[in-house]
Amino acid sequence: MKYIWKIGYLQAILIVSCLLLGALLAYNGLVVYPSFQKMLTKNTEEQAERVANYLISDVLNTSAGLQVDAGADVKIRTALDHFRLWKLKIFLSSGRCIYSTEAADVGKMNHSPIFETALPDGELLSKVVKKNGKSSEGQTVPLDIVETYIPIFGQGNFLGAFEIYYDITERKDRQDLNLQNSILVSCGISLLFFCVLIFILARAGKSIIERNLAEQKLIDYQQQLVESEKMASLGGLVAGVAHEINTPVGAAVTVASSLDERTRHYQDLMLNDQIKRSDLKKYFETAKTSASVILTSLRQAADLIKSFKQVAIDQSCQETRMFNVRQCIEDVLLSLKPKFRQHDYQVEINCAQDLEIDSNPGAITQICTNLVMNSLSHGFAERDRGKIRLDVQVAGGQLQLHYADDGVGMAPEILKNIFEPFFTTKRGQGGSGLGMHIIYNLVCQSLGGTISCKSSPDQGAVFSINIPLS
Ligand SMILES: Nc1ncnc2c1ncn2[C@@H]1O[C@H](COP(=O)(O)OP(=O)(O)OP(=O)(O)O)[C@@H](O)[C@H]1O
Ligand SMILES: [Mg+2]
Repeated sequence: MKYIWKIGYLQAILIVSCLLLGALLAYNGLVVYPSFQKMLTKNTEEQAERVANYLISDVLNTSAGLQVDAGADVKIRTALDHFRLWKLKIFLSSGRCIYSTEAADVGKMNHSPIFETALPDGELLSKVVKKNGKSSEGQTVPLDIVETYIPIFGQGNFLGAFEIYYDITERKDRQDLNLQNSILVSCGISLLFFCVLIFILARAGKSIIERNLAEQKLIDYQQQLVESEKMASLGGLVAGVAHEINTPVGAAVTVASSLDERTRHYQDLMLNDQIKRSDLKKYFETAKTSASVILTSLRQAADLIKSFKQVAIDQSCQETRMFNVRQCIEDVLLSLKPKFRQHDYQVEINCAQDLEIDSNPGAITQICTNLVMNSLSHGFAERDRGKIRLDVQVAGGQLQLHYADDGVGMAPEILKNIFEPFFTTKRGQGGSGLGMHIIYNLVCQSLGGTISCKSSPDQGAVFSINIPLS
């Protein structure tokens, strides 16, 4: 049972089943039982009418008012036995009783208004009276009966009425027994169905909960795997940074220690008054070259640290706002204009002038800058001409950015590594190998999108970026 309560829709199935069972029982009690009773009344009413018709022609004289024939009593009592009647009375139209199988009733008045309204209109009136209940005349009835009034007409005039008391005790008992049995059987079947339902729901609930737990475990495990994967890649990144920074910093240290050694040497010469003008000249020369090498190396290191800082984008300070995408791309191209100047490089932008999105403009700027920079420094390296095409549109709730250049393209071994941090084919020539890694991080992590690249030698490079928009 506890498994069912833990799962919303199983709970709903159980509640709906309970309600249906309740409704079935209520239907039996409120609709089926009363309709059987109605049927019983209708049947007796019809029989009463038949009895009345028989008696009208056999025991009544309607030629001059309403009179009961002499010897009617025997015939009436025979009918009473034959039709299982408990009692029969005959009234005049005034309500006076002129005949009854119980002699004490004769001569009494029936003050019921039906003698003025319903009966003169030819209506039959029936009433079920339960054992020890009161008849319409206020008499206590010792049996279950149906009390029926049937009007008597003669030459179109309302002359009086029969009142026939039908003994339905036996029929009602039989009917009640049948109904009881059918209710018992339907309750039994319902109970059985209910037990089976609970059993099935409990089993289903248990297996759903077990499956959910297993799925959660799998998700946790995958998350752990992703985390450790992230840590490993961060470790790789740190090792890469250390390796990259080691070269310029190492060079600076070597030159600085050699400068230190030279400085001490010339200081000793000066303290012993042995220094010559040519020595001083040599020392200044060394100091100048060393300072320049140290400066260059440290600048290189500083640049690397700056790039590294960009890679570790702080997700929390990513600004999101509505901005015009085309304007953003045009700004990027404007900032890179000096690099286009000496060559015939063309850029075609296919993007609606008024395309506005709610996203991170800084990230889009950085992505476009790095893509264009790569086309210039790799795709169009040593080429005078080159064409870049940018198709941008919003479709299916995504910003679709299609970037293509017609540059030198990439061999498969380069293509498969381009998103790796520190992967570059321009090592020692200004390439750090972080540009594409930054793009990858921005698209996939900061913006939650996807990026893919297609390229082959001399066929240019194509980048497809999809960014979901909220
Ligand atoms: N449009 C392109 N055409 C040809 N080769 C490309 C293109 N874009 C990237 N590459 C290749 O992918 C490599 C990695 O690119 P990435 O931008 O990560 O590094 P980089 O440009 O070499 O250095 P950085 O961008 O950090 O200065 C490049 O060295 C280059 O070989
Ligand atoms: Mg680059």
